[in-house]
Amino acid sequence: MTAQLIDGKAFAASVREKVSTHVAQIAETHGVTPGLAVVLVGEDPASEVYVRSKGKQTVEVGMNSFEYKLSAETSEEALLELIETLNADTSVHGILVQLPLPAHLNESLVINAIDPAKDVDGFHISNVGLLGTGQKSMVPCTPLGCLMMLRDYHGSLSGLNAVVIGRSNIVGKPMAQLLLGDSCTVTIAHSRTKDLPEVVRRADIVVAAVGRPHFVQGDWVKPGATVIDVGINRIPAPEKGLRDDGSVKTRLVGDVDFDAAVSVAGAITPVPGGVGPMTIACLLANTLTACCRAHGFAEPEGLTA
Ligand code: GUN
Repeated sequence: MTAQLIDGKAFAASVREKVSTHVAQIAETHGVTPGLAVVLVGEDPASEVYVRSKGKQTVEVGMNSFEYKLSAETSEEALLELIETLNADTSVHGILVQLPLPAHLNESLVINAIDPAKDVDGFHISNVGLLGTGQKSMVPCTPLGCLMMLRDYHGSLSGLNAVVIGRSNIVGKPMAQLLLGDSCTVTIAHSRTKDLPEVVRRADIVVAAVGRPHFVQGDWVKPGATVIDVGINRIPAPEKGLRDDGSVKTRLVGDVDFDAAVSVAGAITPVPGGVGPMTIACLLANTLTACCRAHGFAEPEGLTA
């Protein structure tokens, strides 16, 4: 048996299409255009690529994109002042401060300075608390994307055994809360979990978010289970040859040994092309949701938890 591939690239395109349609509709009916402000401090090349991609996709769905690139030496005071300005700006519905921040800046202080209603990352302590108590909140983008794919594949998730491997604040913990909200029986596993293969073997749904290449083995997966691979790991790929500078080329792999798991699972997300593209699509969905909530407009269906 070969698992069905869950095509995150196509799913993300369908989310962007829904967002785009709804954005056009509120612009026509209410004369309002959602706006997303992205703040990047420093010159981390990977962050610059992400921020560029976010800005491009924001504009493509018809929303306003505001980019703020600050030097790596920016003071905490200056960054907090910018956040205050964006909090007060009615044309800005979503604010994202790209992480990681340079070491001299206090990440939680900065994140918690964002108006929770504009916190499209869902990282503000108020949103964490709202999600944890089953109340309406802004939901972190990657787990939201995973939830959308799981709901699409399964219909109802009620009563399914879900194992989330990884306990990060950005993915593992909110993912577990979302699955609990959809009435799964949820186990959060991590690097210290005893008998991890046995724990994973009980799961109808496995969400792998540990950040270790090929960590989840094929024989850990229950036959027919759904495997969501959040990992994005770069490993050497000597088979691809050398770069001009003589260094070995690399390739992206997930946290799951895909080649082994694909013949056991019922459905699986590939890497690349699985969860990855869903993250920015959900950021756009969250910005639209924040705009609708700010103005009291009807929220789009299927784009929130
Ligand atoms: N850096 C890497 N991923 C993310 C994300 O989802 N949000 C923010 N703010 N920074 C990131």
